[in-house]
Amino acid sequence: MSQIRSIKGTHDILPADSQKWQRLEQIVRSVCNQFGYEEIRTPVFEETRLFSRSVGEDTDIVSKEMYSWEDKDGTSLTLRPELTASVVRAYIQHNLGGQAPVQRLYYMGPLFRRERPQKGRQRQFHQFGVEAFGSGHPEQDAEIIAIAWHILSECGLNSDSTLQLNSIGSPDCRTAYREALKDFIRPNLAQFSETSRKRFETNPLRILDTKAEHEQKLLDDAPTVSDCYTDEDKAHFESLQNFLKAINIPFSINLKLVRGLDYYSRTVFEFTSPVLGAQDALLGGGRYDGLVETLGGKATPAIGFAAGMERFLIAMDESGEQSIESKTDIYFVCLDEDGITTTLSISNKLRQAGFSVISDPVRRSMKSQMREANRSGAKFAIILGETEMESNSVVLKYLEKGEQESVSQKGLLEKLRKLTN
Ligand code: HAM
Repeated sequence: MSQIRSIKGTHDILPADSQKWQRLEQIVRSVCNQFGYEEIRTPVFEETRLFSRSVGEDTDIVSKEMYSWEDKDGTSLTLRPELTASVVRAYIQHNLGGQAPVQRLYYMGPLFRRERPQKGRQRQFHQFGVEAFGSGHPEQDAEIIAIAWHILSECGLNSDSTLQLNSIGSPDCRTAYREALKDFIRPNLAQFSETSRKRFETNPLRILDTKAEHEQKLLDDAPTVSDCYTDEDKAHFESLQNFLKAINIPFSINLKLVRGLDYYSRTVFEFTSPVLGAQDALLGGGRYDGLVETLGGKATPAIGFAAGMERFLIAMDESGEQSIESKTDIYFVCLDEDGITTTLSISNKLRQAGFSVISDPVRRSMKSQMREANRSGAKFAIILGETEMESNSVVLKYLEKGEQESVSQKGLLEKLRKLTN
């Protein structure tokens, strides 16, 4: 039978890497706690219409990248391609807005997009993210960006990454801007790619996202959304910039940043890192003041971001940030079949006392077990042979120094406690 392998664009996270994942997860949890954000977990699949209504029918995600299927009752279901829509659905379904005026939520988990796999781009990938509901004020935007900044700092990535910031204005401003942009592009429309020509009809702002150099050139003198800001849009954006300066978060304004999801209004932002190559966005987010209402809830301003965890780990590897520590305290070396029961019971006692203990289940020679003990990174080896069985003792070996001594089985726990305090 041919070997069964993982599906293209999906990855196993093996023990050599899972410690790095756990460290990142721990940083995310601890920073989110510092800001008073609480975890929300939603299902991995949802009704398809949740995503088409929120992310937008014409976006790449909805039009090309979703894993969707028809369930037996005819409902169209989809593996979640992002989490904001699911969180908004849960927010409305459980009336979270009625429980507190501001809801601060964070999440972590796998997502699915059928994109062409490359460095930093998978078909199953993981995000962590935060969403805050209830405030339309710019200090909420500053807080969300500060959370991203704190996590980046804890991961050692803040100095290498750039915060790109823009405001795409309120819906009124965007209606005016859409027309101004179309008027500018129309005379040269034939020179744009098929994708951009399609976007010209459906969502002209997305043309600004183009990666094609000749299109970027054609757009050099295009009007910017800032030409169409309302007074409130302007005031909001200026306050946000002042707040970010006050809390020392550097940013650069990128008036071409529009992001690839339809639900945004006003603030949008991305942190990018040069070490990631073509897929350089570490995280992205923005305000989505209309989305709760679009999905059937009471009008509620909201803002959040999501970060690619694989991309964070690539960037952390590049910056040499990771140091892996062994989690094992003790490697138990048993040299005699008759000692197995004693090995199991001493190991259990030590684990109950909080030590991590590995023992050898394949009855290997002393030499191979000692080799494993050294490889495991454990601080101590406990050796139990015939002599020790007879005298109710064990040999305690300090693996780093190579020294060893005989210790009574009764006094072992006390001894280890003293040595590790
Ligand atoms: P997004 O820009 O689609 O936004 O994704 C956020 C981040 O997820 C990206 O910056 C990137 O790091 C990572 N990412 C996206 N696609 C892939 C992929 N195929 N492979 C690996 N990493 C990927 C959202 O998802 C919005 N829900 C963010 C948001 C939250 N806006 C407001 N609240």
